[in-house]
Amino acid sequence: MHAVQHLASRGVVSVNWASCRATPCGRAGTMRLPFKLHALIVCLVAAAASGCTQRTAVTELAPPLTSIVPIPQSMQPAAGELRFSSVKVEAAAGTPHATQALTELLARLGLNGSGATSVTLHLELVDAPELGEEGYRLVIDDAIRLSARTDAGLLHGVQSLRQLLPAQKQAEHRLAQLAIRDAPAYRWRGISLDVARSFLPVEYLEKHIDRMAVFKLNRLHLHLTDDQGWRIEIKRYPKLVEIGGRSAVEGGRAGYYTQEQLKHLVAYAQARGVTIVPEIDMPGHVQAALASYNELACADVKNLSPYSGVEVGFSVFCLEKPEVVYPFVRNVLEEVVAIFPSQEIHIGGDEIKDPLYADFVARTAAMMDEMGRTPIVWEEGSVADMKPSAILQLWNDGYAIDAAVAKGHPLILSPCSYLYIDHGNYAGQPGADWCRAEGVPLKRLYSFDPAPFKTAVGIEAALWTEFVHADASADEHLWPRLAAVAELGWNPAGQRSYAGFVQRMGALRPQLDALGVQYHPEPDLGWAKPE
Ligand code: ACM
Repeated sequence: MHAVQHLASRGVVSVNWASCRATPCGRAGTMRLPFKLHALIVCLVAAAASGCTQRTAVTELAPPLTSIVPIPQSMQPAAGELRFSSVKVEAAAGTPHATQALTELLARLGLNGSGATSVTLHLELVDAPELGEEGYRLVIDDAIRLSARTDAGLLHGVQSLRQLLPAQKQAEHRLAQLAIRDAPAYRWRGISLDVARSFLPVEYLEKHIDRMAVFKLNRLHLHLTDDQGWRIEIKRYPKLVEIGGRSAVEGGRAGYYTQEQLKHLVAYAQARGVTIVPEIDMPGHVQAALASYNELACADVKNLSPYSGVEVGFSVFCLEKPEVVYPFVRNVLEEVVAIFPSQEIHIGGDEIKDPLYADFVARTAAMMDEMGRTPIVWEEGSVADMKPSAILQLWNDGYAIDAAVAKGHPLILSPCSYLYIDHGNYAGQPGADWCRAEGVPLKRLYSFDPAPFKTAVGIEAALWTEFVHADASADEHLWPRLAAVAELGWNPAGQRSYAGFVQRMGALRPQLDALGVQYHPEPDLGWAKPE
């Protein structure tokens, strides 16, 4: 399994009562009765356990008005309601992706016709620096007005609107009047999928991107190569997929993506506000490459067969043959860069001990710089001499990263005891448990706080696939936990609470159903199947 194992040491953050604000537990506020009543019930349940003694400002409202995940930064309810049976879109130029997403949403809900009561929906680009690259405003009064600085911001606004609307068609739609202003805390809100151990088909990745977009997740990291398989076509080295694409972890799926398929996925993701970040894992985790091109291994390496085991940490490029290894690495990365426009490219660097390791990471990171891209390296790469712009991805809780932070390296946070969602939704779920024997339940995941990591650009969950071999199993591991990842990346700790998340996400179950997600029936959300 994983050679380096550090168990979690951080405590679980206790629930705060942000969801009780604006209820009889907090100040009365100006909300209309139905919302108060709903919140009252939630708070009475909560109060039974702890007592609602905190009186704080209104930030979180009750469903059905505001079941939005991640929770918007600011929401102001108004007194009225907008009723309509069709929507006329007035979209500004320069908003192709948001316009497309909105058109699809309205068509799915039957709102694109000429219904009896029509409202106008304005999509506007505005010069509002406080919204940043991804922020948006959504105002519902006697019309619907979405504004942002960018098409990406508008896309997020469309997703908030989608969550406010029902998941299915209905004769008349009703939206409470409100004003939302929203922007993310972190620019990197990601999920890594290990398609190397067990392959995930293009059709699954398309569905996955659609689902990510609904929750405003914006980075899909594809772990494309590992010991058990090589999944990306490299035209200069066809055997990488002819041989390396045919193997998989025992019980898993083999396969590979052509460059054409990957370019299609890149464009599909871009249209939904998602950047695909490719990873070529080197200099370890390379048995599939060695089996394809034996000369990449040192002469004394006897085992050059494809591999389908689970243990790792044994294969490595022969770093004593720089004249063989570095041209290969450069040629592969040149093709990778030509497929993926992502500014960041992941070059791996985990779980290998080799005297020339630091030199390899430094040289490969420098290659990325030369190609105009920013390298991402797993945390072990912090020993290498890289430009401070190189990003380190933390995966062991408690890894000694202070020196790298002092050098200025940005961090992507994926501490395994919170964000490795190959681990169980509950203690005892079959599958990975090497990092945390009790699994990574939703509440545990939600308790992670990125704030202490001063150079963090964001967070990323990881789905390793040693034991996740089918689409349904991937779904069950990803959802609903990815919705919690989205909220951790979008909202700072003071703006969110697990109680509020549970309430809002619980109400969004029909949205996951409409997307065909085979999610884990999470008991905390009230989704558990009856015994
Ligand atoms: C890792 O889990 N080896 C990054």
